[in-house]
Amino acid sequence: MQEQIDQYTTEVEAFNPANADELETFRIKFLGTKGLVKDLFEQFKSTTPEEKRTLGKVLNQFKQLAEGKYQLLKEHFDAQITTATAQQDLTLPGEGFAVGSRHPLSLVRNEIIDIFKRLGFVVAEGPEIEDDWHNFSALNFPEEHPARDMQDTFFITKDGGKDSIALRTHTSSVQVRMMESGKPPFRAIMPGRVYRNEAISARAHCFFHQVEGLYVDENVSFADLKQTLYHFVQELYGEGTKVRFRPSYFPFTEPSAEMDISCTICKGAGCNMCKYSGYVEILGCGMVDPNVLENCGIDSKKYTGFAFGMGIERITNLKYVIRDLRLFSENDVRFLKQFKTDIV
Ligand code: PHE
Repeated sequence: MQEQIDQYTTEVEAFNPANADELETFRIKFLGTKGLVKDLFEQFKSTTPEEKRTLGKVLNQFKQLAEGKYQLLKEHFDAQITTATAQQDLTLPGEGFAVGSRHPLSLVRNEIIDIFKRLGFVVAEGPEIEDDWHNFSALNFPEEHPARDMQDTFFITKDGGKDSIALRTHTSSVQVRMMESGKPPFRAIMPGRVYRNEAISARAHCFFHQVEGLYVDENVSFADLKQTLYHFVQELYGEGTKVRFRPSYFPFTEPSAEMDISCTICKGAGCNMCKYSGYVEILGCGMVDPNVLENCGIDSKKYTGFAFGMGIERITNLKYVIRDLRLFSENDVRFLKQFKTDIV
């Protein structure tokens, strides 16, 4: 049996087929259900235990050799076939490749930016790591004031006081930077990522995205604020969307309001999204507090302004009804590819 195996080994090693048919004959001869390998294993059963000890190893090595050789040659011929057919038949469809799509938050952010650009607003950006002055103090949050707790903050330097550094909790910080470094009039929106120290769940996340806006000039009034935001809502959610303003409180605006719109899902009839009230809140807004203007070196006797801020996740939710906020940051392709591709 040893001799036989030696002989087959030489044969397998020397085997050099010219085509796939010859390889198939080889497979049947050695590896087929009635092939030589099978045959050898049958013979092996009736050898003595002593013979088994040496033959077992030899036999297995031979089997591996034959299988390995077959596999290698098969891959070689398969590859040849694919290239050959592709070269011959030019009508074969090309190989598809996956095309990405815009993230829903980017789609909505771009839409918001477009609407405000048409009204003459420019886009302003600023750092995500902010000092206390730009994120809080300049915005009229007194130190130790409970209003600071409205936004659970990730502090980078621990104290949380006047000298602290933190991840920005809103893009109002960019408004401060803009007013400090320029002269009125200002008409800008500030899109960007913001951070709050909240437990992650379907309804809250430790970061989200905002677009805030600022308009400072002579004679800017609450009527301008209302008209601008009314126009924005009609553009974004369609003509006939109702708006309503509720008094609210922010340290940096006076008076302050929260703006609701008629529910985009049930059109005001009452549904889960609006908790059967017909209205949903979409943003905070108000007239810039004179203290904030003065903090930024702007004469509050001469200039007035309005500001607003909204979460892009919320705005997106009201367009696409996304039940779980976490979907926005998990980047599951099955979720992402549902949004239209507008990559240009
Ligand atoms: N900065 C506020 C927030 O993040 C939003 C806001 C901006 C409210 C401007 C009023 C005016 O909650």
